[in-house]
Amino acid sequence: MPRVTVENYGTFEIETGKRLVLALEDAGVDVLHRCGGKARCTTCMVEVLSGEPTPMTAAEKTVLEAKGMFGQGRLSCQITCESDLSLRTIKTTTSTGLDAGTKPAEHIEPEPEYLG
Ligand code: FES
Repeated sequence: MPRVTVENYGTFEIETGKRLVLALEDAGVDVLHRCGGKARCTTCMVEVLSGEPTPMTAAEKTVLEAKGMFGQGRLSCQITCESDLSLRTIKTTTSTGLDAGTKPAEHIEPEPEYLG
């Protein structure tokens, strides 16, 4: 099972293929997902410290480029847990005062088109 290490939280064993945003939330990590995991809001962005996340989806690239955030991190709603990762959260309910947002679906939305 992949292990995800989150700065200031610890290391968690995650079911292979689970959406990273849900894995984080289920592990008790304070992470936002304001658009419900649909690659629109970018609030679920995390900084990847080590490891190789799943390839970027077309939807992720589109929203990151539109908001001028390409290269600043990856959207945890557009990644599934396939191998070990180490990361740092960026926006949280604590740092923003916002509600986390609607719970994302189990599978990546929109239907992922991987850019490899
Ligand atoms: S972009 Fe909104 S939850 Fe990921």
